[in-house]
Amino acid sequence: PNKDSTVVIVLGASGDLAFKKTYPALFGLFKNGFVPPHVQIIGYARSHIELDDFRKRVSSRIKTNNDEEKKLLDEFLKKCTYVSGQYDKPEGFQKLNAAAEEVEKKYQGQKHRVFYMALPPSVFIPASEGLRQNAYSKNGSNRLVVEKPFGKDLESSKELAAALAAHWQEDEIYRIDHYLGKEMVKNLMILRFANVFLGAAWDRFHIHNVQITFKEPIGTEGRGGYFDEFGIIRDIMQNHLLQILTIVAMEKPVTLDAEDVRNEKVKVLRAIAPLTVDDVLLGQYTGSKDGKEPGYLDDPGVPKDSVTPTFAAAVFYINNERWDGVPFILKCGKALNEHKTEVRIQFQDVAGNIYPGVERNELVIRVQPKEAVYLKLNNKQPGLSSNAVMSELDLSYSKRYSDVKIPDAYESLILDVLKGDKANFVRDDELDAAWKIFTPLLHKIEREKVKPEPYEFGARGPASLNSWVEGHGYARTKGYSWTPGKL
Ligand code: BG6
Repeated sequence: PNKDSTVVIVLGASGDLAFKKTYPALFGLFKNGFVPPHVQIIGYARSHIELDDFRKRVSSRIKTNNDEEKKLLDEFLKKCTYVSGQYDKPEGFQKLNAAAEEVEKKYQGQKHRVFYMALPPSVFIPASEGLRQNAYSKNGSNRLVVEKPFGKDLESSKELAAALAAHWQEDEIYRIDHYLGKEMVKNLMILRFANVFLGAAWDRFHIHNVQITFKEPIGTEGRGGYFDEFGIIRDIMQNHLLQILTIVAMEKPVTLDAEDVRNEKVKVLRAIAPLTVDDVLLGQYTGSKDGKEPGYLDDPGVPKDSVTPTFAAAVFYINNERWDGVPFILKCGKALNEHKTEVRIQFQDVAGNIYPGVERNELVIRVQPKEAVYLKLNNKQPGLSSNAVMSELDLSYSKRYSDVKIPDAYESLILDVLKGDKANFVRDDELDAAWKIFTPLLHKIEREKVKPEPYEFGARGPASLNSWVEGHGYARTKGYSWTPGKL
């Protein structure tokens, strides 16, 4: 029998992220039998909370679908305990250590610990140091999971990295970018490297441009204070969208081993020149016309003269043999017309075309919602016409995999942490390379208070967006729209 034990310590256990994401993800894994045997989950935060109340709060964010799941939830809650303490003093961490030892002494094997830091950046450094000094397992693995923001620019990111590196080995650190845990982001490598026909066309000779889009229909909603310090480029583009870009663009790794994968991603990032103001279109939302939705500047946490962008589009060029000259257009925004993340690969025009109606092929990977992969292709107009008409091969998950529940990104990533697989986590040099692309632009925007273009809450983006995207080479298909799974 397995004699090892695993203690998962959730720091910031009374906060939003822990209740909304970490605990539900842990329950999802528990429910499906994916947590190791002899696991215990200890929450840690500053406020004093009675264990019963804590468990109630944990369970209030977890959905159960039937009696069996309710029973499992009760079992899960028994594994959840809570310790309160400070982030900058040793006593709390010593108490935490004692609580972990109490669990571990029942088992004779290795004593693994996972430290999940769902913490605000101001306490990252003291907490990681305090944990290392007071709560580190001497007989088993130690894994430190950290959440963004990883700094605000190259310099602050390097400072944070150095502070972490003073106490933790790089191979113990798991930097989460939760987009790397999303099913369709994980699908990108398979699509590319396990399909001959896609692999063969995956270059500048066949692909005209790539668009990666993130849209949210909600505004900052009370997070204005945090958001104003960061802006949409740091909140979404520098991490989530750039990660997707690297997977779309990287060479095939030698193996699926984490270092092989991340080596390839870093090479892509290093081939991208730093962005300039001319490469971007910035926007900020105003209130909706009917007055129902507030503008960004109406958020109580936001200064009235803020120029922080809530929308950004940027064009990237990758200076290597495969991608030279191919625009990668990244777009992201809050308070837009819909909720959608997708990758759109637009292929080149057909050379020497002989058919009326032919337009560019597109391969679209719909990350969320309504996961799908569809390929837009020219088809003979059915009937007596011999014109081409745009149609699609549609792999909508709701149809093809209707009985599969797609796990939450956090479930998938926490499972990776438990298994010690780092392929879907951000390496330190990757982070450096990513910040190098954005830092000069971010500094210039802030120094010169570059004004974003206003757009109304619920719009598609700033008015100049379409012409901007088309100016970078994208050709919109005429009269075509796709309805997920309509086949
Ligand atoms: C977070 C951002 O990283 O990602 C949020 O800080 C954003 O602003 C969120 O809403 C989006 O994640 P998801 O998984 O809901 O698409």
